[in-house]
Amino acid sequence: MALQIAARVSRIRAIPCSTGGPLTRVPADVQSSGVKFKHILTPGSPQLGRGAATSAPRSHIYPDKLSTTTTLWRASRGSYSSIPQVKRGWLGTFAVGTALGVSTAVLVQSLHTGAFTAMALKVNLDSAVGDWKETKDFLLSLSVKDRRQYYRTASSVALNEIPVWTPTAGGPEPSRYGRNEKLDQKISVHDGDITKLEIDAIVNAANSTLLGGGGVDGAIHRAAGPMLKKECASLNGCETGEAKITCGYGLPAKYVIHTVGPIARGGVGEEQREALRSCYRNSLKMATENGARSVAFPCISTGIYGYPPEQAVHEALATVREYLDAHHDKLDRVIFCVFLPKDKELYLQNLPLYFPAEATVKSKL
Ligand code: APR
Repeated sequence: MALQIAARVSRIRAIPCSTGGPLTRVPADVQSSGVKFKHILTPGSPQLGRGAATSAPRSHIYPDKLSTTTTLWRASRGSYSSIPQVKRGWLGTFAVGTALGVSTAVLVQSLHTGAFTAMALKVNLDSAVGDWKETKDFLLSLSVKDRRQYYRTASSVALNEIPVWTPTAGGPEPSRYGRNEKLDQKISVHDGDITKLEIDAIVNAANSTLLGGGGVDGAIHRAAGPMLKKECASLNGCETGEAKITCGYGLPAKYVIHTVGPIARGGVGEEQREALRSCYRNSLKMATENGARSVAFPCISTGIYGYPPEQAVHEALATVREYLDAHHDKLDRVIFCVFLPKDKELYLQNLPLYFPAEATVKSKL
C-alpha cells in the first residue's frame, strides 16, 4: 500500500494555485488515494505574519504526509480553517518533499508554517498555562493586523488616531530649551486609558516585585492577561529608576516597559527627582534598544507613590526633551498618557517650556 501511494505521490508536482482554492489539479486517482494535503504558504505570504508578501501570495500544494485516509483541507481565504497538528515528524515531511523535488527553502517554510499554524491554534491569553517564551515569540512575529485577534481589550486606539501636540507659544515663563524642529510631530498628550493604545510600547508604573499591583499596574496586568505576570516573574524584580521590558500579550501594545518610580510621600528631594528622571530615561532607552518607535508614559509615581504631579511633570518633560534631542531618529512618537483632568492641564500648560514654538530661549535675566 505504502509503495502504491509513494508511486502515485511521485506523480504529484508542485502545483501553484491561487490561495484558498480547493485542491484541483492533483490527478483524480491520487486524490482518491490515501494522501493528505494542505496549503503550504511560500515565503512572504501575509499569513506568515511580519514580512508580508509584496505581491499576492502564491501557494503550493504538497502532500504533508502519507496516510491511509484521504482528507483534503481547503484553506479558507487567507487563513486556515482547520489544520490538525502534523503527527509525523518534520523528517517525514522533508522526505516526501525531497522525493517531489521540492526546494528546501519551501519545505523549511512549510515546517515554519506548520509550527506557526499549530502555535496559532494553541495561544490562549486568558490562561497562564503554556510557555510564555513560545507565546511571546509567536506574538512578536505577527504583524499588527494579525495580532489584533489576540487583544483582550474591548477596544484599541491606533497611533494615527492620537493627535500630535503642536508647539504653542508659552506663558510668561521663559522656555527652558530652544526650539528643535526635529522634535515637531513627535509628542502627544493623550487623555485616556494606556491599556488601549495600539503602539509599540506602553510604560507601566510598577513596583519592585513586577508582579502587579493597583493603579495603572493593575490595569495593565488585567488587560494583558496572566502570561504577563509569568514573564515578569522571570525578571527577578526591578530597582527604582530602572526599566525592564516584556511582551504585551493581550494588550494592543506590542511591549510593556516596566519601571519603578520613587516613593515621594514624604516630600521630594534630589534623590527622588533623579530617580523619576531615570524612569523616563531608562524606559526610552529600553524602547529604542528593542526597536519600539512609539512609546506612551503614564504619570509615573504621581498616584499611590505620592509624587506631586505639578513637580513630576517637569522631570518627565525635561527628560523626554533631552532624550529626544539626542535620539530623535530612533523615536517617532512619545505620548504622555494622562488619566486625570488635572494631569492633562499640567502637561498642556508646561509643554511649551520644553518644546517651545519660538526659535530661541528667552534670556533668564
Ligand atoms: N491608564 C493611564 N494612566 C492610569 C491608568 C490607566 N489605565 N490607571 C491609573 N493611571 C494613572 C494614575 O491616575 C496616575 O496618574 O497612572 C498614574 C500613576 O499612578 P499609579 O498607578 O498609582 O502608580 P504610582 O504612583 O507610580 O504607584 C506605583 O502603585 O499600582 C501600584 O504596583 C504599583 O506599587 C506600585 C504603585
